[in-house]
Amino acid sequence: MIFPKEVEIIEVGPRDGLQNEPGTISTENKKELITSLVNSGIKRIETAAFVHPKWVPQMADSEEIAQFCNELGLEYIALTPNLRALERAILSKVPQIAVFIGASSAFNKKNINKETSESLIECEPMFKLAKENGMFIRAYVSMAFTCPYEGAVSFDEVKFVCDRFVQLGADEIDIGDTNGGANPKLVYERFSRLKDLYPDIPFVGHFHDSNHLALANVVAALQAGVTKFDSSIGGLGGCPYSPGATGNVATERLVNMLSQMDCETGINYEKLLKIAPFAKSLSTKV
Ligand code: HMG
Ligand code: MG
Repeated sequence: MIFPKEVEIIEVGPRDGLQNEPGTISTENKKELITSLVNSGIKRIETAAFVHPKWVPQMADSEEIAQFCNELGLEYIALTPNLRALERAILSKVPQIAVFIGASSAFNKKNINKETSESLIECEPMFKLAKENGMFIRAYVSMAFTCPYEGAVSFDEVKFVCDRFVQLGADEIDIGDTNGGANPKLVYERFSRLKDLYPDIPFVGHFHDSNHLALANVVAALQAGVTKFDSSIGGLGGCPYSPGATGNVATERLVNMLSQMDCETGINYEKLLKIAPFAKSLSTKV
């Protein structure tokens, strides 16, 4: 089996973890969470989303959070679903953006109000503008395994989105198991084929734990050569337009497993254990 010496963990709790909460989470609590995550050794964090506040109210303070992250000097990522979002991110001096497009068009329509093919067209000026502004581009393929609206998602549907991302110059491609419907066999096969097709692209695994298979899926992706994973402190999270999906794989569980396998993450597990209860206290879902 393949166990890399080093694995990069990208924390998505302040964004994916909190976006689906029905109550209000104060900006101060978000800042405290981000600060403690940085203090645990985490280097990259998704902290904001320049989405419409009516669609996702919890991300309405993204401008203020971005300013805070700039002051911290953090390498953070903000979600940008359209050009309007990218303009907001540029004004906020965000270093890294994430575009996110569903391999399943039915999901994409629910999530960002466009068919997948329409989003892929809008992507072109976005990539150009982001590059002109020196931004790192993370490109998500969401619902890359199964979909609550369409059922099984084919490899060709995933490839269709990846082809465009590669053509436009994505810096990394994040393969999202948005509803947690993947399994280790599917994960291994899908990542192996993607890595054969695009050997120079850094891929990221983003596993929601709805079926309690997220850690197993990480191990399967490691076997296919993936060395970057998203996770969420306390296992928080879920997408408001992915019914039934639970949170991401918990950062503390992932770090613990990887350290037992001698894969270095640079993150302090004991500190994570202290942060997780605070993160969970912000959530009504875990
Ligand atoms: P829309 O309603 O189709 O937007 O929303 P529109 O272009 O028709 O414009 C309507 C109005 O919204 C206009 O204002 C625009 O200016 C405004 P008006 O002229 O009527 O006054 N508007 C905006 N305002 C603020 N920020 C913007 C913006 N865009 C338009 N960016 C939109 C389209 C994309 C905005 C909406 O569908 C949206 O915000 N969706 C976000 C959904 C979301 O955040 N989902 C969760 C994240 S994805 C996820 O969790 C999956 C992931 O974790 C990976 C995985 O798990 O696989 C990433
Ligand atoms: Mg997600």
